[in-house]
Amino acid sequence: MYQMKPEYYTGIEAIDQEHTRLFELAQQTHDLLNNDILIDKADSITHLISELIDYTRTHFSHEEAYMESIQYPRISAHITLHRKFEENLMVFDLDAIEDDFDEQEEAVQHLLDFLVDWLINHIMKVDMLYVK
Ligand SMILES: [Fe+2]
Ligand SMILES: [Fe+2]
Repeated sequence: MYQMKPEYYTGIEAIDQEHTRLFELAQQTHDLLNNDILIDKADSITHLISELIDYTRTHFSHEEAYMESIQYPRISAHITLHRKFEENLMVFDLDAIEDDFDEQEEAVQHLLDFLVDWLINHIMKVDMLYVK
């Protein structure tokens, strides 16, 4: 469901690979949301969020280095959006979902909405600006 399509490619191999990873993580989040067999999703959520934090560290630093290398004029606004994404990830309160299954469902839904919004608005609109 969530996967790279031809129009998402920047043509920069490392960046495209990292974006592919974000689509995979969104797909995993979607699958976790629709998993009715797993009752306690706390560990899976914690795992997903730590994967996302990892993704963020490597991908954003690569992208920011690339923008610097081409002297992209709108780099600082772009970097601000990256920092905001990181802040939003940190807001997830993993303690609150530990034993509350309803909170877990809400957290996964929230995470999915957040990722889909990022895929559509950031990769498609903001990242594509430095490609041109
Ligand atoms: Fe990106
Ligand atoms: Fe970006």
